Amino acid sequence: MSDFSGKHFLKLLDFTPAQITHLLGLAATLKRDKKNGSETPQLTGKNIALIFEKDSTRTRCSFEVAAFDQGARVTYLGPSGSQIGHKESIKDTARVLGRMYDGIQYRGHGQEIVETLAQYAGVPVWNGLTNEFHPTQLLADLLTMQEHAPGKALRDMTLAYAGDARNNMGNSLLEAAALMGFDLRLVAPKACWPEESLVAECQALAAHNGGRITLTEDVASGVSGADFIYTDVWVSMGEEKAKWAERIALLRPYQVNSAMLALTGNPQVKFLHCLPAFHDDQTTLGQQMAQEYGLHGGMEVTDEVFESAHSIVFDQAENRMHTIKAVMVATLA
Ligand code: CP
Ligand code: NVA
Repeated sequence: MSDFSGKHFLKLLDFTPAQITHLLGLAATLKRDKKNGSETPQLTGKNIALIFEKDSTRTRCSFEVAAFDQGARVTYLGPSGSQIGHKESIKDTARVLGRMYDGIQYRGHGQEIVETLAQYAGVPVWNGLTNEFHPTQLLADLLTMQEHAPGKALRDMTLAYAGDARNNMGNSLLEAAALMGFDLRLVAPKACWPEESLVAECQALAAHNGGRITLTEDVASGVSGADFIYTDVWVSMGEEKAKWAERIALLRPYQVNSAMLALTGNPQVKFLHCLPAFHDDQTTLGQQMAQEYGLHGGMEVTDEVFESAHSIVFDQAENRMHTIKAVMVATLA
């Protein structure tokens, strides 16, 4: 499908279900080709700029490895060391980088920043996470769901997301369910539900595409019959430190643990997390949380679930690379 050529990838609702299906198919093909040693570079000679105003492991490495596999070169622009933001506007940055690069990835703050970049760059711009959306993550999630439910269409799957749904992951899951028609339950206290206008828009689209989006505070009914349980951190990058105590108090009943998996009634239920995850106290922040709030053995997910056979989080992490490669190939090759 050549209708991706030169396009931006800013949020899922900019695409049709057929286009998302096409990207997932392309990612599966690229993954297969890489694994059997038959990958053909389609981005030879392309130069790619990677702007990161927030930290990253998976997204940065996915863009870099995908670019290298496809014969392209990358420049990493981190949170400091360039003129972006403090001395030079996004509009000017877009016009400068657009003269030198064939594609630009942006990870940072407001969605309006990546939209401005796309408006002025003159080359494809890809959203590697904003406060509002994380669309490349969802491509990896959908591919992973397909791989773990062979023979089952996305529209026949049920995904329950428990935790902070008022963030980029909650919003992007809404968009994905609206387009692909799976049964999405956002299981969270009302204070952590996404913006009503986005919920209404996505519920209407989901109805059109054969899906269903439910928001509930009730864990038992929310997770019942789920094929997948998904969660994310309770405080996202860029949110004030002060949020921790408030979110922990609100979200403790929504921790993904063995009891929640049992409530699904599905012994085969799979666990998803975009990562990084607070599931143990092996990190400095994890140790701080354990000390300050007594959260030993995990926060949004217990170590027991994270390390269990239900967990497919590393397949999901690997699929970031294959799906990001598909986005770059589709828009640039
Ligand atoms: N899931 C994800 O976006 O991970 P990084 O923050 O490591 O890129
Ligand atoms: N909601 C998280 C996602 C990290 C991949 C954040 O924005 O920090």
